[in-house]
Amino acid sequence: MAVYRHQTGEFRAMNAQIENAQTESENNFAQDVLEGLSASQKYLPSKYFYDAEGSRLFQKIMELPEYYLTNAETDIFERQADSILDQFSASGTPFHLIEFGAGDASKTSILIRHFLERHTPFDYNPVDISQSAVDELAADMQTTFKSLVVHPIVGDYMDSLDQLAQWDKFPRIVLFLGSTIGNFTDHDAIEFCQEIRQHLTTQDRLFIGFDLKKDPDLIKRAYDDAQGITADFNFNLLKRINRELNADFDLQNFDHQPSYNPKTGLAESYLVSNQSQIVSIQALDQTFEFASGETIHTEVSMKYDQEKINLIAQQSGFAIIKQWYDSKHLFTNSLWQPGNQQ
Ligand code: AVI
Repeated sequence: MAVYRHQTGEFRAMNAQIENAQTESENNFAQDVLEGLSASQKYLPSKYFYDAEGSRLFQKIMELPEYYLTNAETDIFERQADSILDQFSASGTPFHLIEFGAGDASKTSILIRHFLERHTPFDYNPVDISQSAVDELAADMQTTFKSLVVHPIVGDYMDSLDQLAQWDKFPRIVLFLGSTIGNFTDHDAIEFCQEIRQHLTTQDRLFIGFDLKKDPDLIKRAYDDAQGITADFNFNLLKRINRELNADFDLQNFDHQPSYNPKTGLAESYLVSNQSQIVSIQALDQTFEFASGETIHTEVSMKYDQEKINLIAQQSGFAIIKQWYDSKHLFTNSLWQPGNQQ
């Protein structure tokens, strides 16, 4: 590439590495889109929601009046931070607070503020695959909380647990908030928690947010808000394919369609083709046919009852120590320790 001409060898090597990584991730995206749109039930993996625009839309979703999950978890932290801290560090022992997928850490900040007020010895370790995301978050947290010790970790979630174990022997408390676990199928959720379990010792803890089963209308509104932000979030997948893979999806030809099954707790999002059409994706050198009414599955957002939470904990090798609920009983944060249920 022309831009490499005036660069030193070291610089060139670094850029080549970045370029390889980009090409690799573009290839994965292309490959996943190809697989998903070639399946008999078309699907797109929900991890692709979160490009810059998708992450911005998700922040807006969290501020929507219909998206009760954020308020519910905030309510738990605001009212019960003392009780949570008592479990994280009963006798004031130091610990590492590790957050998977921290975003802007707005909810975690409530706990952190409280812990600092109680002079708790801990450090905060947000983990993200993106260097710029963790750097930005660490700088913001440091500005807000002058005395907070922040050690961001760039990389894979499981690698971050291993890295921390090498620093010292303090307990590690892993936060996985916002019912992000619900974006996994039950099978994948168990596999993910099993993997975390393998990287923890008996003194470590896992603190997970679960969105509970509730009035189906409340759930449906949370995924079909009046302003259409969730619809835009869903459509952003098609925009991303248009932009990154040179496709010609016409967004007018698709509708956002959420669904909820109160019996299983399975909330799902789809994009529905509102006419028969053919879409071309140049990067795949392929066209895809859509019948009128045909769906693309885009997301699972599981809703839980206690039985299911117990099952996931038990199947992944954890015992539940304690749970906290918001005042309306919409959401729970569950604290787990490695070992089997009593
Ligand atoms: C990130 N995750 C927990 C959100 C959820 O509720 O499943 C993503 C989301 N999708 C639509 N609205 C919000």
